[in-house]
Amino acid sequence: MDDATFEALKRSLTRLIGLDLDGYKQMQMRRRVETFVAKHCGTPAAFIERLARDPALLQATRDMLTINVTEFFRDAAQWDLLQTSILPSLLRRRRSLAVWSAGCSHGQEPLSLAMLLDEAGALPRTRLLATDFDQAALRRVSIGGPYAEEELRGVSEARLARYFTRHDELYRADARLLRRSTFRELNLLDDCAGVDRDVEDFDQAFDLIACRNVMIYFETDAKAALIRRLRAALRPGGVLFIGATEALLGADASGWERLGGNFYARSAEARTRRPAA
Ligand SMILES: C[S@@+](CC[C@H](N)C(=O)[O-])C[C@H]1O[C@@H](n2cnc3c(N)ncnc32)[C@H](O)[C@@H]1O
Repeated sequence: MDDATFEALKRSLTRLIGLDLDGYKQMQMRRRVETFVAKHCGTPAAFIERLARDPALLQATRDMLTINVTEFFRDAAQWDLLQTSILPSLLRRRRSLAVWSAGCSHGQEPLSLAMLLDEAGALPRTRLLATDFDQAALRRVSIGGPYAEEELRGVSEARLARYFTRHDELYRADARLLRRSTFRELNLLDDCAGVDRDVEDFDQAFDLIACRNVMIYFETDAKAALIRRLRAALRPGGVLFIGATEALLGADASGWERLGGNFYARSAEARTRRPAA
């Protein structure tokens, strides 16, 4: 696919899907789009023409672009750290917590959070917001799945028995795990203000934000802007939980204190030095 065709295809996809594809790492994005188009339709023109009248292809394209691969308790060591150190420390400071799973995919992340909060005895006092760009994923998590056995690999037998109900071959998360949760569509490339209608002011609204394996696909400026917005949404001392292959580095690390593992606390912003008079 030549550059002009790729740019035209990107514009069509942005119009049909509502996602600014320039916010994503371009080489990765282009490889994914080219492979997908070749597999499904052959030519970009045929692909766009079919996309406009084929909702299943549109959803498959959205999944391909946003990559919704996820797991319960993904990167188990980080969840152990959350359970044994980060959560207890947050709960010592605040009786009730506000938690946001930003880019929650099909719910494995917010449900993992809900299980840990329940085990800490804090779920009834927690408000959990789960957001994603993908409406189909949000619909699924809002009704507790259901999840196939292979999707539940990270869930221990004890948790499976305690938090899921089996129907035939599928497992549905118990309603009580979801009772404290709200689900909203949110594009993390956009301004997040107004997404959480339960809080008047999104600024400094959260104690813990899990935003994992999302910014890894964003290009540099979009990633930096997202990190700034996540910081603004945290209370001072609030904690950001990122993916195992992600890190806050360079300018992105300003205003954060690394707590260990993939956890960063919102700290005072580094002062910019004034030029000498
Ligand atoms: C790889 S999954 C990660 C899911 C989960 N956080 C985890 O770590 O297992 C990336 C998720 O980010 C969502 N996503 C991608 N781009 C997004 C955007 N611009 N705004 C909101 N969500 C986005 C996708 O729909 C997908 O659910």
